[in-house]
Amino acid sequence: MQNFQLTRRAVLAGMGATALTARMGNAATAPTPLTAQRAMAQIAPEGYPQTEVWSYDGTLPGPQLRVPQGASLQRRFVNKLDVPSSVHWHGIRIDNAMDGVAGLTQDAVPPGQTFDYEFVVPDAGTYWYHAHTNSMEQVARGLSGALIIEEPDAPDVDRDEVLLLDDWLLDPDTAQLEPDFTHPMDLSHGGRFGNLVGTNGHYALTVTAKRHERLRLRLINAANARIFVLRLTGLSGWQVALDGMPLPAPEPIPEELVLAPAQRVDLIVDVTGDGAQAAIERLGNDEQWHSQIAFEISGEASRTRRDAPAPLPPNPNMAPTDLTQARLLEMKIEGGAMGRMSRNQMQGLMQSGNFWTLAGKAGPGDTPFARLSKGEPVRLRFVNDTAFPHAMHLHGMHFREVLEDGSLGPMRDTVLTFAGRSHEIAFTADNPGKWLLHCHMLAHAAAGMSSWIDVT
Ligand code: C2O
Ligand code: CU
Repeated sequence: MQNFQLTRRAVLAGMGATALTARMGNAATAPTPLTAQRAMAQIAPEGYPQTEVWSYDGTLPGPQLRVPQGASLQRRFVNKLDVPSSVHWHGIRIDNAMDGVAGLTQDAVPPGQTFDYEFVVPDAGTYWYHAHTNSMEQVARGLSGALIIEEPDAPDVDRDEVLLLDDWLLDPDTAQLEPDFTHPMDLSHGGRFGNLVGTNGHYALTVTAKRHERLRLRLINAANARIFVLRLTGLSGWQVALDGMPLPAPEPIPEELVLAPAQRVDLIVDVTGDGAQAAIERLGNDEQWHSQIAFEISGEASRTRRDAPAPLPPNPNMAPTDLTQARLLEMKIEGGAMGRMSRNQMQGLMQSGNFWTLAGKAGPGDTPFARLSKGEPVRLRFVNDTAFPHAMHLHGMHFREVLEDGSLGPMRDTVLTFAGRSHEIAFTADNPGKWLLHCHMLAHAAAGMSSWIDVT
């Protein structure tokens, strides 16, 4: 009897599928899966054991997804973990229902279940995807990958390298991830930092290159809390995009390139080093420069350097927000260790499992920080009244920083705010939906620094 029912259900399900295929034509094949599952990865140097991670499709980082601008990305998320999860497509100006924020835009996908993501990618550039259910733990365990949206006319480079910068907190003996993801020290201070820093899932990445070769480097900070301060040696060039969005013109690369958690930068560089090596170096806590990515130079791509690159083609919908018409909002960031919150306030907060507040509130709750009408121009001032920097990220829409002289900076989706400072951003609320606004130091987000806005 049971068998019969099973068979019947299978047949009925099969018929359903046939009917659907008939209605939608042959295009209605199941989307490509993206599977969250356990995997082993050689993060630590050879000789150390492999590390058990949570991965997309068994690789660390997850597979590099590449989609032409304007196309529709379709993935069937399959959850083979034993906890619920969901996928967020960071920086995509996306349809709200596809944003992947468990508890706000969808229910978390239970173990063994699936969720079909399907959305148009309007903007070319460097983006990434990561878990957005208990992200503090899930991203640290490995659930992230690069999402590259390709320009119809790609810039003329010899090679395109995606470099996902990350760090891992490993037990030095076993090379396994330190499993306490909610240590109060991490939550109340700078967040969870790794003791092993690396790129594309390895502690030390080496890239081979030819002299005078032109590379497009897409740097993504996928770390939970680490702010990367980088410098280039033996590579010279320009930065051409920030957080996916093209700059109006290529700009010289700053001597020290700061990449906060979740931020991206696209560089076009020529290999100019005289020796056999070039590198991207990272400033360590010891104030020394350490190799983050080594470039081994052999051979020559051409005798001389090429001409300066043209700007990347602009994305649609990049017009600056009209500040004169904008509504002014203020969001005070408070709490954390060594902050100015009173002992009583702090103790009250900690009783709810939090250490931080945004606009006086810990966690997203049921009511939005602001209700905006579609198309409304907004100025949002972050007042960082804490002892730590915070990387504030808005979902669904990019913004520009309002600079000290009142002009507008480049379009971004994550702004690094500094302790004791104010930073104002401006954006046009042109994407309807419920959009999370949170610190991308993921321990902070979990301990109160999450809020949201409602655009209708
Ligand atoms: Cu990278 Cu709430 O996201
Ligand atoms: Cu923070």
